[in-house]
Order: sequence, then C-alpha cells, then structure tokens
Amino acid sequence: MSLTNQDILSISDLTLDQIKEILSLAETIKSKGANSDHLHGKVIASCFYEPSTRTRLSFEAAALKLGASVTGFDNAANTSSQKGESLTDSIKVIGRYADLIVLRHPLDGAARLAAEATDTPVINAGDGANKHPTQTLLDLFTIKECQGTLEELHIALIGDLKHARTVHSLTRALAHFNVRLYFIAPTELMLPEELCEVMIKHGIKYSFHAHLSEVLNKLDILYVTRLQKERFLPYGNDSATSPYHITLASLDGAKDNLRVLHPLPRVDELSRELDHTPYAYYFEQAANGIPLRQALLTLLLSPT
Ligand code: NCD
Repeated sequence: MSLTNQDILSISDLTLDQIKEILSLAETIKSKGANSDHLHGKVIASCFYEPSTRTRLSFEAAALKLGASVTGFDNAANTSSQKGESLTDSIKVIGRYADLIVLRHPLDGAARLAAEATDTPVINAGDGANKHPTQTLLDLFTIKECQGTLEELHIALIGDLKHARTVHSLTRALAHFNVRLYFIAPTELMLPEELCEVMIKHGIKYSFHAHLSEVLNKLDILYVTRLQKERFLPYGNDSATSPYHITLASLDGAKDNLRVLHPLPRVDELSRELDHTPYAYYFEQAANGIPLRQALLTLLLSPT
C-alpha cells in the first residue's frame, strides 16, 4: 500500500511491508545519498509545542537535504496558542500553508486530533507519554544495522517504561518480529497493561524484571530511557533521579554483540564511561534520524 499522503500517528498505522519499505529506502539513502531536489517546492511545517533537539533538527535537516523548505516554530509561547487558539484551529490553518506537518505536543492524542482537522499529512513527532512512531522507525533501522537482523533477538528495555513514549511505540513495532523482550523497571514505572495485550496478541514472549543482572547475559540490545520527570512531576522538580545508573561494571558478563541504545537525551541513567566502548551505539542511533526521516518524507510526499 502506497505511503503517499498518509498520516503517521502511531507505528500501528503502518503495515509490516510499509515499515520494511521505509527501512529499506533509509538504508539506500544512508549508503548512496538521496536526490537533493526530490522535494523541491514542498513546504514542511515543523510545529513543536514541546522541547526537542534531535527530532526537530533531524526532520528539518532531512527536509532541507531533499530540497524542501521548512517553516514552523520550536516554542508554542511564540504562537497564537498563547492567545488561546485551539490546536485544531491552528492546524486547520497550518495545513493550508504546508504540504506536510510534523507535530510534537505535550498532550496524549494531540497528533490524532490534528490529523482530523486537516487533509494535509501529519507526522506525530511525539504526543505526551503516548507515542513516537518516527523514533521507533529509526530505532528499528538502528537495531537492524547493528545486529544485521530484526529477528531472533533478545531485547531489554530499561528505565521509565510507564511514561516513555519511545518505549510504547517500539514495543508495538517489535511485536511484528520474532523477538524475546525483557522489561526492566520498578513496579511503579512498569510498562502499561495495554502493551502487554499487544504482545500477547502477537504471541511475543516477554517478562518483567527489577534488575538488569537478571537478564544481562542473554541480551543483544539494551534500550535505555531516562526518567520522564515532566510527565508526572511539576516542572521545576528536579530532585527525582533515575532508578538505574548503567556503568561499565553493570555490563560485566554481557555478550560481545550487545549494543546499548538510548533515544536521548541522557540524564543520569547511562554513564559516559560507556561512550567509547563497543557497546555504545546511541550516537549512531541519533545520526540515523536523518536517512530515516529523509526516507519517510520522500515516501509520504511522492506523487501517487
Ligand atoms: C525522546 C522523546 O522526546 O520522547 N527523545 C527523542 O525524541 N529522541 C526521549 C526522551 O525525551 O526521553
């Protein structure tokens, strides 16, 4: 099924074939480069109502590398939302200015609401604690790149699994593959129940753990997330720290092919001493945001 003009609101909106098509084009773009004027004349609206470094800059860089123009904002304080305009009204208008909207918003479900307000395709660049499908595409791309496959892998996700939208979307996507999943978190930060139902439906074997040491020697991928303080603590409350702090010693006994991923930003959950070890793959992961988003924009904006 063609991806042209499709909204990307949840990773579940994509079929497995579509996911594979995006990853495959991203692979070609990474190895051979992309046609630099493929999207000449197109306008991408980059609408970020929440802080972002990698997602916004890699979307914008990807668009510019394809010859598109970028308009938008990185701070809702400078938009009419400050005057009380609803998201729906803003999107109705922005949809008439742009060929595609990239939206990040603090509210769960905001991207779907936006997509209902316009015929212009909307990409969810993160909605509250809910979903982050394009991070997941680049996570899948990166797992395949560093392990050579997406099948038969043992993958652990550790940290704030309750509030991390990257974890929610990645879990949904991994349920398409033959993988064994381990979720490591204190009970109060454990994965939401609805995601267990997704894994059960797909016949994925998974288990919950309190400590990394319980599963470390089995792992091919360790996916680390920060404590998502802004999702459950008032802004400004900085005293909470991550329940885990992964050091080189924490990885003692790991398989040689273990690769550590992290959507970034990192705070206190992952020691810098890992950065120059073969385990670290998180900066390569962040760099993959460019070819992956170039592939996605190309497919969404290609003529039917
Ligand atoms: C993530 C996000 O915004 O959800 N960052 C990203 O997009 N690379 C992860 C996070 O903020 O912890």
